[in-house]
Amino acid sequence: MTKKIAILPGDGIGPEIMAEAVKVIHCLRDEYGFDVELETAAVGGAAYDASGDPLPESTLKVCHAADAILLGAVGGPQYESLPRELRPEKGLLGLRANFGLFANLRPAILYPELAAASSLKAELVSGLDLLIIRELTGGIYFGEPRGIEESGNGMKTGINTMRYSESEVERIARVAFEAAQKRNKRLCSVDKANVLEVSELWREVVEHVAQDYPDVELSHMYVDNAAMQLVAKPKQFDVIVTGNLFGDILSDIAAMLTGSIGMLPSASLAATGKGMYEPVHGSAPDIAGKGVANPLATILSLAMLLRYSFDLTELANRLERAVGKILQQGFRSADIASSGESVSGTAEIGNAVIDALQS
Ligand code: IPM
Ligand code: MG
Repeated sequence: MTKKIAILPGDGIGPEIMAEAVKVIHCLRDEYGFDVELETAAVGGAAYDASGDPLPESTLKVCHAADAILLGAVGGPQYESLPRELRPEKGLLGLRANFGLFANLRPAILYPELAAASSLKAELVSGLDLLIIRELTGGIYFGEPRGIEESGNGMKTGINTMRYSESEVERIARVAFEAAQKRNKRLCSVDKANVLEVSELWREVVEHVAQDYPDVELSHMYVDNAAMQLVAKPKQFDVIVTGNLFGDILSDIAAMLTGSIGMLPSASLAATGKGMYEPVHGSAPDIAGKGVANPLATILSLAMLLRYSFDLTELANRLERAVGKILQQGFRSADIASSGESVSGTAEIGNAVIDALQS
């Protein structure tokens, strides 16, 4: 049956990197019989500019009709003064909430060729392969009450609420234990249980769920220590599971360990099986439109899409191998080039991946 992918390029470098991913999809269709149909829709600032809404009904419709969503990036400085409801980020958060995309998988893998691009010493990161599983539709990002209140005497108070129900923790914990079972069977749950009640409950539920996965070795770590351990001894981790805010922060740290956030894909999965796939990096307005952005995180997000939404493991592996191959061949976008290495533009990298797929 024809698979449907919603293509949401978004803002900044989004359209450029997405153009390369679309070229790759066409190659998979023409060369490997991937039966696919694409529909493009606007999200974020691009959608706001076109319709006054960062997540218009028409875009939601396209996403509903699709089996999977591939997203570029959203955001830009020109939107920062808009009311929160109209900002590009609202488009992204709205997609996550609308489709119940509660499980965010952010792998951080160091390609051997890029060890020099890491800000850590090569021996600390060589062979690094960890997976952060971030809860994505709860916690302080969505907790009520929230807002900015007048608290009298001319003072205002800002409020956000970190809350997790047992069922929210349980379902993300199960995703994490199952992922660990398929890897090195070690799971570290990150929280702030020494201070926060919400973390105390988180830990209790994770412990309880662990009884169903006796083959997985579970540990717990406070988030401040986890941040330190990630830069001190990152290879101690296999799978990390954590809440929305902690996962946002720790996944940026993990990204930098691999040399470039421009390499890291992500998957956001719903209980319904729906998935949205996007690079971990943002819209990089400073380099937008220059044809220099790294499209590999988006192309690797496409590989995750093939794997998780369509169960096309062989095709996903093939695409990931093609990316590995072009790195071996020496193709480098500016963000991953060490000094002295020659630098390729966005389209050149995309074309190289297609050549590698065809060879
Ligand atoms: C991410 C981003 C988003 C987040 C922003 C753009 C809303 O930082 O996906 O990590 O905070 O979740
Ligand atoms: Mg983030």
